[in-house]
Amino acid sequence: MNMSLDADFAANVRLIFEQTVPQTVLETGTYNGLGSTTVFARTIMNCGFSTKIVGIEVNPIYAAAARANMAVEGFANITIWEGLSIRRDELPTKEEVERFLQEMDALNIPCDHPPQTRVESYMREIPEKIVTDNLLRTLIEQEKPDFILLDSAGHLGYLEFNATTETLQKIGKSAFVALDDILHVKHCNSLDRMMEDPRYFIYSCGMERNAWAIARFEPS
Ligand SMILES: C[S@@+](CC[C@H](N)C(=O)[O-])C[C@H]1O[C@@H](n2cnc3c(N)ncnc32)[C@H](O)[C@@H]1O
Repeated sequence: MNMSLDADFAANVRLIFEQTVPQTVLETGTYNGLGSTTVFARTIMNCGFSTKIVGIEVNPIYAAAARANMAVEGFANITIWEGLSIRRDELPTKEEVERFLQEMDALNIPCDHPPQTRVESYMREIPEKIVTDNLLRTLIEQEKPDFILLDSAGHLGYLEFNATTETLQKIGKSAFVALDDILHVKHCNSLDRMMEDPRYFIYSCGMERNAWAIARFEPS
């Protein structure tokens, strides 16, 4: 969803940023930059911080649009990486997406698309030509972000959540981890895992538009 429309999410981001003064914010699914990226950038500007924003976007047209929109808004300390958040070899096959969506159906968990076209629609969200992959793990290791938002494709949310948890644990980094669409195929499994995992403490949840959660991760 466009997270700039969710005032409750923006208010929680502001509260966390004011309390913790993040050095770096990382997000997957930057889209055109006018949603969650703008929430982060405006909060950083309004707080007078020099926090860096790092975005990951697999679609070259959206990545270019996000760079242009950020320049128009005057947001300077921001880098948009074009590429895939997870590894290429982790991308689910058509059959695996079909099976996953059937499992979600059985639990009455909603997805973005009508039943006849949903598998193709999710598969199409990932372009055939990917310039680089595994950006989420690479950038967590490189940038050591203090706040991470996972908001990319519905059928990949749980894979991004696993990659995030695994990498934060590996480098021994505490961070806030935000999930968009927690009552949806994108992150319902991630939320379940977050609630079971003692390294996560759920900090806040929102139900205003699409449901979201922000948790604090402390490595064991
Ligand atoms: C739901 S939209 C993001 C909305 C945005 N965060 C906002 O608030 O407006 C999902 C975006 O993730 C991108 N995307 C999907 N899968 C991805 C992946 N594995 N890695 C990087 N970007 C991905 C899509 O191209 C799309 O632009």
